[in-house]
Amino acid sequence: PAAPSSDAASFLRCLAVDLPPQVVYTNASPSYSSVLESTIKNLLFVAPATPTPVAIVAAADASHVQAAVRCGARHGVRVRPRSGGHDYEGLSYRALSAARPFAVVDLAALRAVRVDAGRRTAWVGSGATLGELYYAIANRSARLGFPGGVGPTVGVGGHLSGGGFGLLLRKHGLAADHVVDAVIVDAEGRLLDRAAMGEDLFWAIRGGGGGSFGVVLRWKLRLVRVPATVAVFTVHRPRNQSATALVTRWQRVAPALPRDVFLRVVLQNQDAQFESLYLGTCAGLVATMAGRFPELGVTPRDCIEMTWIESVLYFAFYGTGKPRELLLDRGTRPERYFKAKSDYVSEPVPSHVWESAWSWFLKDGAGLLILDPYGGRMGGVSPLATPFPHRRELFNLQYYGFWFENGTEVSEKHIGWIRGLHREMEPYVSKNPRGAYVNYRDLDLGVNGDYDDDDGGVSGYEKARAWGEMYFKVNFERLAAVKAKVDPHDFFRNEQSIPPLPSSR
Ligand code: FDA
Repeated sequence: PAAPSSDAASFLRCLAVDLPPQVVYTNASPSYSSVLESTIKNLLFVAPATPTPVAIVAAADASHVQAAVRCGARHGVRVRPRSGGHDYEGLSYRALSAARPFAVVDLAALRAVRVDAGRRTAWVGSGATLGELYYAIANRSARLGFPGGVGPTVGVGGHLSGGGFGLLLRKHGLAADHVVDAVIVDAEGRLLDRAAMGEDLFWAIRGGGGGSFGVVLRWKLRLVRVPATVAVFTVHRPRNQSATALVTRWQRVAPALPRDVFLRVVLQNQDAQFESLYLGTCAGLVATMAGRFPELGVTPRDCIEMTWIESVLYFAFYGTGKPRELLLDRGTRPERYFKAKSDYVSEPVPSHVWESAWSWFLKDGAGLLILDPYGGRMGGVSPLATPFPHRRELFNLQYYGFWFENGTEVSEKHIGWIRGLHREMEPYVSKNPRGAYVNYRDLDLGVNGDYDDDDGGVSGYEKARAWGEMYFKVNFERLAAVKAKVDPHDFFRNEQSIPPLPSSR
């Protein structure tokens, strides 16, 4: 391995003094690569060319995080927090440029979940996965749940930092809407709870995107009630069986359904897959569909009743009868390369656009589109209540391209496919600015400049507005103001972190 730069060398000496050796991995450590890759989800970023951290601190205690931040601040080595490692651009463990050394504070070991069923709350460590959280809740009470994302291996830390949504969104809103307290290590290495950090910072960490404000160690969540029985269905409608007309109709129906119903669509190959979760019985779900969306033709035979935790398994692993313990599987090495992008849709997209979208699936590259309806509870929350501004949209549109072969040419083909489709959709999606979801991180939208380009090492606010206002709209300025207050030297910085608001504004 290359010799560390002088900043890095003094940082590593500082870590050696302040931390037990077993929690620090440098690239001289035999298990450095396996620790680095332990939660990487995208093969694109396992490549040897990816700039990697000078050290990974596998924190086993709050004091380890504090020491890593203090050593970093003292010796000019920035720290990137990593919880579940699912960042679409790998920002929790890689940098675009090798110009400045950085370190990773890995929180995977800080993953305790303490559920208080009586008070309907839980404290959860950032390093827990959503699967571990759901499992712990269901083991304490069959009548409690949490409105987070679908992927069970997603880390709680990054997910809550960017908002987080899943199949309970229309009933209960975002995961971050249910955070009632948190403990964070700030840029000076202080340990602060909600009362100590103040309401501005507490606002910013619930949706302002991970990696900008500090390292959140744990979160106190308000749990939600779930019925004893929920109902689900998955029906396929191929292109040649009116899928285009159904998707076109879906855009008006799904966001206006009663909030107990979530009905999303996944478009792949020449097929539209309609997936639904209903907080009630099959009788209620089938009747609601017959009344509101008869064209879809859902029958009682399509519907399955189960408990809420079984529905979590059903949507995560596609099927019934899977053991609950699958939720505890934190995943192994990544098996695919992927690139994703997102949009928000405010007005229904015309049917001819959906019709022409099918031809994209016949072009280069495997890919899919996921249409997640909003409406319901989302419309009742002010776009200013949290940094997440997309409360009034019809639906979120996710573009997801994936492939299994290695090589620049293959990657370029697939990334080109997804960029092309995203470009094609521009006239039909939200505008001024076009919206995007920060948890579907996309560096094509813009990046902070190289460290040396900016004044005093502080990333540029004006430049960052290009992507910052796509993710956060008017909330971007408030996020930058909070950043200026809590981290004026931009210690927690990555390619798309929030820059400090210049004092002239
Ligand atoms: P990771 O550890 O990579 O962190 C993401 C970002 O947050 C990085 O910038 C990191 O530095 C920062 N960060 C991490 N921990 C932090 C902490 N404790 N304090 C401060 N900053 C921290 N989303 C969704 O809304 N609904 C869904 O259903 C899904 N499903 C899904 C499935 C799969 C397979 C993937 C790969 C992703 C999703 N997502 C999703 C997106 C997911 O919510 C998003 O990638 C999260 O940021 C991932 O959080 P991790 O902790 O795993 O990521």
